[in-house]
Amino acid sequence: MRRINFFLTLLLLPLTALAAEVKSPNGNIVLTFSVNEGVPTYCMTYKGKDVIKPSRLGLELAKDKHASKGKGETDLMDHFSIKAESTTSFDETWQPVWGETRDIRNHYQEYAVTLEQRLDIPHYPKEAETKGMWVEPQTREMIIRFRVYDDGIGFRYEFPQQKELNYFLIKEEHSEFAMAGDHMAWWLPGDYDTQEQMTQQTRLSEIRGRMKKAVNWENSSVAVFSPTGVQTSLQMKSDDGLYINIHEAACLDYATMHLELVDAETKALTTQLGGGSNAYTPNPKPSSYQLPKPFTFVSHLTPDATGLKGCMQTPCNTPWRTVMVSDDARDMLSSNLILNLNEPCKIEDTSWIHPTKYCGVWWEMIVGKSSWHYTNDFPSIHLDQIDWQRVKPNGRHAANNEKVKRYIDFAAKNGLDQVLVEGWNVGWEDWANMWKRDVFDFVTPYPDFDIKMLNEYAHSKGVKILMHHETSSSTQNYERHIKEAYALMNKYGYDAVKTGYVGDIIPRGDHHYSQSMNNHYLYVIKEAAKHHIMVNSHEATRPTGLCRTYPNLVGGESARGTEYEAFGGNNPDHTCILPFTRLQGGPMDYTPGIFETKLSTWSDNTSWARITIAGSLALYLTMYSPLQMAADLPEHYEKYDDAFQFIRDVACDWDDSKYLEAEPGDYITVARKAKGTDNWFIGGKCDENGHQSTIKLDFLDKGKKYNCTIYADAKDAHYEKNPKAYVITKKVVKAGDTLRLTEAPGGGFAISLIAQ
Ligand code: NOJ
Ligand code: CA
Repeated sequence: MRRINFFLTLLLLPLTALAAEVKSPNGNIVLTFSVNEGVPTYCMTYKGKDVIKPSRLGLELAKDKHASKGKGETDLMDHFSIKAESTTSFDETWQPVWGETRDIRNHYQEYAVTLEQRLDIPHYPKEAETKGMWVEPQTREMIIRFRVYDDGIGFRYEFPQQKELNYFLIKEEHSEFAMAGDHMAWWLPGDYDTQEQMTQQTRLSEIRGRMKKAVNWENSSVAVFSPTGVQTSLQMKSDDGLYINIHEAACLDYATMHLELVDAETKALTTQLGGGSNAYTPNPKPSSYQLPKPFTFVSHLTPDATGLKGCMQTPCNTPWRTVMVSDDARDMLSSNLILNLNEPCKIEDTSWIHPTKYCGVWWEMIVGKSSWHYTNDFPSIHLDQIDWQRVKPNGRHAANNEKVKRYIDFAAKNGLDQVLVEGWNVGWEDWANMWKRDVFDFVTPYPDFDIKMLNEYAHSKGVKILMHHETSSSTQNYERHIKEAYALMNKYGYDAVKTGYVGDIIPRGDHHYSQSMNNHYLYVIKEAAKHHIMVNSHEATRPTGLCRTYPNLVGGESARGTEYEAFGGNNPDHTCILPFTRLQGGPMDYTPGIFETKLSTWSDNTSWARITIAGSLALYLTMYSPLQMAADLPEHYEKYDDAFQFIRDVACDWDDSKYLEAEPGDYITVARKAKGTDNWFIGGKCDENGHQSTIKLDFLDKGKKYNCTIYADAKDAHYEKNPKAYVITKKVVKAGDTLRLTEAPGGGFAISLIAQ
């Protein structure tokens, strides 16, 4: 009887379970979820237009000899039915420790569906028959949780602890994002190790043709995985005027996600087995799997050294997969979707976390005028075998007492909080890409860097030194030294560290964006928090809003920063794209402020920064970060002290932000109100075509007057031909006034409005 019932149940299982429809609070976004022939499927519209066409969800698991009861290899892709559903509303306003606005509203409709998967269904009846006995069908559960906001959606997979799903290995996640057309896209080649590339702007159908040219093969660690693989955050624009952005939020104990586009030529999705090679390898798919239609993105996780993509223990969940959408590009920039999908702050006392403006002994090394290393005398260095007091200095070592004091004096005079000093610690003689494990100890200064004296000198002037820990990607070495290194920082009064991950990851085979590396970055952030240290990570994985939970993560690189202006240059539109892409997950340490843009005028470097001085000032507003560097040399700022006044004045923490104009790759204009004051600052940055900006000052307080200083491109300014031509004008303005500004090619403007 029970057996008959079971077959009846199978027959009666509807092919498509009833679809659930969830609307965003203002009704503009509609999310639909259903189970189609056992496959979880979703789609999404915005004001009635398709954003995501029906797309499947699921995960492919890997075989593992340790998997519980041999079930580890059954994929979480199909044979699902809906067991339970719930829809709830949520609305709260929270205050970030630092940010673009004082208050952030987190308002969404949530839909959580519990899916039940029957194991071994295809084989069950036969097996039962031969054995002539009843076997209770075994089941597993997986929850898919959607949050539907006015500016986008997030969804994630949750795996409750259960007998049939305990430890499991992920071979690949198959979250699909089926686009409704051949959108314009601003993309970076999908890469397991670097994001330091120029953004490509093409149609989706043109990605494959552009891929080889798009890869920056020169980078110190490159692992491209597919001719149509791209990174997130991916910004797109549809022909019917929708701005669509795909990214992820709260990537914790999980690999960073890339996207592989299925286009007209795709035969099979690719996977990379093992680390290191750049080969594109077809991935055999489970039997029920069908390649999705062209213009569908499929998630592609970063593998570890063995080629696996995740080692999971229930209860656990994936990061949120996010799709932002609007018909107004400005909404892409003001969205808090990613932050909202992260957990609230986990650090109880945050009083030691503060916005920071800094300069640094840095740019002159990047440009090649001076060196991080101290001596040229050794073909290689064994840290424990060198008597540093006896070695011959090369005469080019930048982090020396005299120079550092000069930078401290400059910071003190100009109200900068900190001075970054790179190359202060021994080991820089042979640091990168040597597969060298014990590359730095993070505690031993070179003989010409008196750590005690310099910190005391800085503190006596109200300035701090910003610590630098280049790990050279030797991650276990850093973990071994971290406690001692942070104790040293505490001893001398450092409260911020810039970390770095140049080169391929050691131990070999792992990648910068793998699950284990993401766990490493988090370990560093948590360990730093214990020591009241703020973190700014270079070459780490791209951020996914974790700075909400751990606000001591004040900055990061994970993109092509200003340093590339010394390595051939960044395109003028680069900074008009990054806020739409890289900055979605958190602030970037872009290190702006280059005034002497033609490097050959003061060094042997023939590269040049593709920006005007006024454009450089704009970046302090358009590239939001609580950590802002004045990257050029003190003597260059002293030559243009009237323009440098803006860097002295500008805030880096805000009560309010209003994006006034925006178009990806073309221009961004933003007004921000400095925290705890009535003062506003406005920045406008444009691409190589220039831009006319009309700013209505209707956001100023009515009845107040403001001293307005405008730093604009001169009429004949041009990022290449005349980058240093700027005009400063002053006037008094009030709410309702209008400002008209002309941005030169590759230029911009900056405005301070100080309440009278
Ligand atoms: C690359 C970083 O982006 C740069 O800022 C740093 O100076 C070098 N690595 C050396 O650590
Ligand atoms: Ca870098």
